[in-house]
Amino acid sequence: MSYKTVIKGARVVTSSGATECDIGINNGVITTLGLDLKNGENIIDASGLIALPGGIDSHVHISQPSGPGIEMADDFHSGTCSAACGGNTTILPFCLPEANQSLREAVKVYRNKALDQCMTDVSFHLIIKDTDPVTLGQDLPALIQAGYTSFKVFMTYAGLALTDRQILEVMSVAREHNAMVMVHAENEDAINFLQDRAERAGKTDPYHHAITRPIPVEREATHRAISLAEIAGVPLTIVHVSNGEVMQEIVRARQRGLTVFAETCPQYITLTANDLDKDGFDGAKYVCSPPPRTSEEWPKIWAGIEQRTFDLFSSDHCPFRFASAAGKNAPGARSNFRNIPNGIPGVETRLPILFSEGVVKGRISLERFAELTATNHARLYGLYPRKGAIMVGADADIVLWDPDKSKQIAQANLHHGSDYTPWEGFEVKGWPIRTMLRGVTTMLDGEPTGAPMGEYLIRRAPII
Ligand code: URP
Ligand code: ZN
Ligand code: ZN
Repeated sequence: MSYKTVIKGARVVTSSGATECDIGINNGVITTLGLDLKNGENIIDASGLIALPGGIDSHVHISQPSGPGIEMADDFHSGTCSAACGGNTTILPFCLPEANQSLREAVKVYRNKALDQCMTDVSFHLIIKDTDPVTLGQDLPALIQAGYTSFKVFMTYAGLALTDRQILEVMSVAREHNAMVMVHAENEDAINFLQDRAERAGKTDPYHHAITRPIPVEREATHRAISLAEIAGVPLTIVHVSNGEVMQEIVRARQRGLTVFAETCPQYITLTANDLDKDGFDGAKYVCSPPPRTSEEWPKIWAGIEQRTFDLFSSDHCPFRFASAAGKNAPGARSNFRNIPNGIPGVETRLPILFSEGVVKGRISLERFAELTATNHARLYGLYPRKGAIMVGADADIVLWDPDKSKQIAQANLHHGSDYTPWEGFEVKGWPIRTMLRGVTTMLDGEPTGAPMGEYLIRRAPII
């Protein structure tokens, strides 16, 4: 047997455990996992390295409409360069229709924005903000059929938050057509009440973004979302879970026999609300929703990562420039946190943070790392078995990690369009040194290589 590429000597994290073997690749697909493979046109010596499935980041925001005058810092090229440099081979951004734009039109526009730009493979979740009969009765079923098998509903944000009735209607489309509903669970009325009160008291600095979105706001909405899913009879995914009380809601729901999946993100094991209280206006760099909590939540989130309360570890990459009136310094942002665009960049740092804090510090195994960062994303969002695991027949989406490489995260070395990272100076051990998408190297030694070759992925139903 001859191969286009053979990766030799890595510790390979396969779907059935970690083992030392060679990987044979032909036509962009893994064709052999075996010992002493020969006849490779390209031989990659990976001794001392770990081969992990290419990261799938199933929660990123790229070029998403963000309100008048506000612009996300990444387009599909910069966002996917950053993703590839952080060890990812697939990303799933959200497609949000503009005002008066149909879901189908929005998808067309997004696909055009992504076309020929991507250094990773890509597919979109849909954001459902309108629940009119055309959207729910025609567009959404047609789009699910066409491979858009997951969508997000919001319980917060003006213009996006749906009522309980609307959420039930969306869930019933998911039930009928076998799709996954993702929920942003925060109680909009409670947030508005707290924000009005803070504003009246003159508490308008970035820190009060966190104070006005406290844990009960997220816990109540999570409980309600789960109850709505129970009523509608659908599984659901609760995204960006920030704290232990919300985890308990999820655990209790599972004990009642419900199918609930859960996602968390690096910000909830490494940042705190105090970061939003940094000198001057620097706290705005950390404004995201749900906000980071206290460090007392970190061990609870770790317990959830270790004990499988969490299925997914995503970035919620939502990049804005700090020194820009189209970003964190939006008009009125310095005088009132309500005007600060929500979101932080993180697609390039998600995997190194989890590898270092999780694998290197002995909290999780390599196999669990692979599940949390790739396999479960592929299963829940309809990409498995083509994506998400190193196994024969899967795309050769493989990342070689140097487990001994120590690094300080620094904006100067990142590739996103944002002008800062919330993790400046954060020490990590372990870093991806080569990313391969369908057998082709897209990142080598920290820099993107080659032309954009990312494909648009048509997704199947979730594997529940
Ligand atoms: O603050 C955040 N997370 N912004 C991104 C949008 C979202 O809710 O995921
Ligand atoms: Zn969200
Ligand atoms: Zn998000």
